[in-house]
Amino acid sequence: MNYKLINLDIKGDRRGKLISLEGNQNVPFDIKRVYYIFDTLPDEERGKHAHKNLEQIIIAIDGACQMVLDDGKKQEKVWLNTPEKGLYIGKNMWREMRHFSYGCKLMVLASDHYNPEEYIRDYDEFLKEVNG
Ligand code: TYD
Repeated sequence: MNYKLINLDIKGDRRGKLISLEGNQNVPFDIKRVYYIFDTLPDEERGKHAHKNLEQIIIAIDGACQMVLDDGKKQEKVWLNTPEKGLYIGKNMWREMRHFSYGCKLMVLASDHYNPEEYIRDYDEFLKEVNG
């Protein structure tokens, strides 16, 4: 499975906590794009795609959601519910996001600019791509 949960180093003191994300340091790629998802609704699902080459780190800055990760052979579920962990997802991983808490905010760091051609949005096509 081409994903891992990364514990992010917290610079904390009595005033609160701070986490710094740096490309090619604690983020294992050059960061070319940042986007965030907010005003999420509990009954809505997102994602449902894979990327041919893109790498990403997803962080629940606020609230929680469940990530379903699928490499075409097996499926695993991970809860994102703390800004102290980043979910790294490499290429050729089908992902779905669901069970958003009200007001959940996800921040996503990506290794490349937005390119719709680089998405696989059809699950059967994804299975063909990864399993031959
Ligand atoms: P979508 O891929 O459906 O989001 P998710 O998979 O996270 O649920 O993207 C929603 C819309 O935003 C869609 O019209 C494409 C657009 N979009 C961009 O223009 N730039 C981006 O970097 C991303 C991630 C999406």
